Amino acid sequence: MTGLGAESIRDEGYQAPASIDPMAIRADFPTLHQEVYGHPLVYLDNAASAQTPQSVIDAIVRFYQNDYSNVHRGVHRLSQVATDAYEAVRRDVKQLLNAADEREIIFTKGTTESINLVASSFGERFIGEGDEILITAMEHHANIVPWQLVCERKGARLRVVPIDERGELLLDELETMITPRTKLVAVVHISNALGTVNPVKRIAEIAHRRDVPVLVDGAQSVPHQRIDVQELDCDFFAFSGHKVYGPTGVGVLYGKSRWLEEMPPYQGGGDMILKVTFERTTFADLPNKFEAGTPNIAGVIGLGAALEYLQAIGVGRVRAHEDRLLSYATESLGAVPGVRLIGTAREKAGVLSFVVSGIHPHDIGTIVDRYGVAIRVGHHCAQPVMRRFDVAATARASFAMYNTFDEVDVFVDAVRKAIEVFS
Ligand code: ALA
Repeated sequence: MTGLGAESIRDEGYQAPASIDPMAIRADFPTLHQEVYGHPLVYLDNAASAQTPQSVIDAIVRFYQNDYSNVHRGVHRLSQVATDAYEAVRRDVKQLLNAADEREIIFTKGTTESINLVASSFGERFIGEGDEILITAMEHHANIVPWQLVCERKGARLRVVPIDERGELLLDELETMITPRTKLVAVVHISNALGTVNPVKRIAEIAHRRDVPVLVDGAQSVPHQRIDVQELDCDFFAFSGHKVYGPTGVGVLYGKSRWLEEMPPYQGGGDMILKVTFERTTFADLPNKFEAGTPNIAGVIGLGAALEYLQAIGVGRVRAHEDRLLSYATESLGAVPGVRLIGTAREKAGVLSFVVSGIHPHDIGTIVDRYGVAIRVGHHCAQPVMRRFDVAATARASFAMYNTFDEVDVFVDAVRKAIEVFS
């Protein structure tokens, strides 16, 4: 049985939330009602991108049909309507994350851009030669490469906290690896390749004892658990729209204002300035300082609709449902001869990575696709994780609120058939 994982939902007196009805939820998702090669689509690639409910599609269409205009620039009515809608989503995100101030919510293209923003601006201001940045061995490339670029630019050093055979972070190692030179700890909340849920509140406590700020890559956690950035006490938190049932090309960076205020702008352009002359430019206050140029207005509005949808269902109920699916799938798939599960942490969420001896994951993915089952195969943008487990790639099923136990059966059956084809 997988744990419920989230420290934020495991308070004393916690009771598992009432179950959701995935069949009723499916009615809201138009893409799910189609056949692939003559089989009903079984969509298990949610860790890459979750599907969008009709309400998100409608919100975007409504915006383009009725209210379309630029934000922050016009005295005319449409621009005011668009600005109000855009800024309302900032308040929704503030509430979702329980941020202290809406100025701490920056809209970006997604998690990757959010992390690059911090790497670039925080790195510029706070990281120097000989300093260290601490990440973990289970990071997505988006939480590795930006730090490598800073290290190259600044002559700093990237250090990596190891993980064990189950895919759990070695917290003791993390503690000893924080030195007086450590300037930032950057850690994934839920691993996209392993499903491990990291104890980020604990990590923040450890790092803060040494006055080191913590960035959390929350791309995989926002769809699966309640997030309270003040309770976690992280300094930065990043997530993407397309993993929370919203559109692509939009995401969020939360940052404590004490850091954001001191960090230089990430990009220059319109909307991020106070005054421009050829000699000198002064910058706008938060959050505009970090939102140069016309933002993804329709994307932000779609994100708002997605968060509304997720909150109406209740993320605690979503997580409880997904945990049951994950337990069931872990047991069923684990019983298939030749299958090796990659990532067996005690606290897991949403993700089931596996390999089959003698068969390349791409072949598994191709065959199960013929049965209508969409899974991701490859290195999942986490090549160092693959090396840690001595595999080139894995196959990965990942779950969302609309998946059913019947779909898990179809998936495991399709894997069995793939094994038959290749053996
Ligand atoms: N990071 C996304 C995934 O895990 C794309 O599939």
